[in-house]
Amino acid sequence: MKNRLKSLSPQFKKILKISSQIAHDSGHKIYLVGGVVRDLLLGRQVFDLDIAVEGDAIFFVERLAKHLGENFKRHHSFGTATLYHHGHKIDFATSREEKYSQAGALPKVKAAELKKDLWRRDFTINAMAISLNRQDYGGLIDFYGGRADLEKGLIRVLHPESFLDDSLRVLRAVRFEQRFSFKIENKTDSLMSQAIGAGALGWVNPHRLRDELILLLSEPSPYRYIKRFYSLERFNFIDKSLSLNKKDFRFFIRVQSMVNFYNQKLKRREIKVWVIYLAGILINLPSKDISQITAKFGFKKGERIIISSIKEGLKEVGKLNKKMKPSQIHKIMDKYSYEAVLFFYAYFPQALLRKNLRLFLNELSFLKLETAGRDLKKLGVESSSLMGQILRELLYLKLDQGLRTKREELRAVKKILKIK
Ligand code: CTP
Repeated sequence: MKNRLKSLSPQFKKILKISSQIAHDSGHKIYLVGGVVRDLLLGRQVFDLDIAVEGDAIFFVERLAKHLGENFKRHHSFGTATLYHHGHKIDFATSREEKYSQAGALPKVKAAELKKDLWRRDFTINAMAISLNRQDYGGLIDFYGGRADLEKGLIRVLHPESFLDDSLRVLRAVRFEQRFSFKIENKTDSLMSQAIGAGALGWVNPHRLRDELILLLSEPSPYRYIKRFYSLERFNFIDKSLSLNKKDFRFFIRVQSMVNFYNQKLKRREIKVWVIYLAGILINLPSKDISQITAKFGFKKGERIIISSIKEGLKEVGKLNKKMKPSQIHKIMDKYSYEAVLFFYAYFPQALLRKNLRLFLNELSFLKLETAGRDLKKLGVESSSLMGQILRELLYLKLDQGLRTKREELRAVKKILKIK
């Protein structure tokens, strides 16, 4: 039997061997399941592992964690836990079946053998397992034709109710289709259209939708994903009146090159690229609706603020399309996050405006004063509000007149103080 685990890192291999031994000793059956099996067959790099345990996963993880001298985190959802070992993440779950009493409702869950655990999954390519048990270690288990679909490049549901049981799978289908350049199999495609037509995405908990949307917009080159999903569902699940035009799609393409530029040349901090794309999807809606939508889906406060600031800022930033002093550009742009500045750069086509934004991004945003509050104190400035005012004025002078050294800055401070 072919060992499918050969391409894993030595660390992962070691952990799996130990897990296999413990499973043998404790009478458990364990399997690698889901996306990791798909990725191993595709020859893609694997970062995290998902292990299904026939029996009690928690009991199993306790033993494994003790053996490795690690802690593990038990989760709220049925028989699941995560263990970290030397930076490697391994999720464990009790193998289970799920029964949906009605479409969109939460399923009834109970422990079950592997075959049922694989049956409850979204697509055949995600419903394979690799045995970690001594007798067939590393062997592929493929009840539902996942391997053949992987070879043919097809996304196929396991049963006709799949999208109604969990309509998030509509977003997932697009994600895998675009990521692997696969095709959604014909029957699956029509089941998906039926589910969309029935408004099935409206039955899903908004927080689950948010998480899936973030995953979609976090894939490399999300433009294709957005275009494809828009052709299917028009992001109606976010808002019925949402609409995107040619200009918006050109914007998504430009975001891509802006983000690459940021990551290669400027990178000051990790940015949430998906926020830029989401803002682009929402941008034609009224401000009030955008705030309601981002609150309803439970985006974090910081993310909501960035998206609103972009919508609110369009008018003000639009004024940058003229010759301006660096300090004037700074006064307008300084309050925006990198995500927002990149958005504006991709959004506005006007040459002068873009030149000003480029100047801000490449130079002005990095400029810092050498002078600090304590230097002003030495010069007799006591009030903190006055200090703030002077430092701001000094920064603007530095931006416009190019003060290079601390001495030049202090000379300028003295001038400001005389005027005050
Ligand atoms: N799954 C499912 N239905 C969902 C979500 C997940 O059936 N709505 C199953 C699939 O078998 C999937 C597995 O749970 O492979 C793990 O889910 P997740 O980690 O979200 O998916 P991956 O396939 O690992 O995707 P990715 O490569 O993006 O991490």
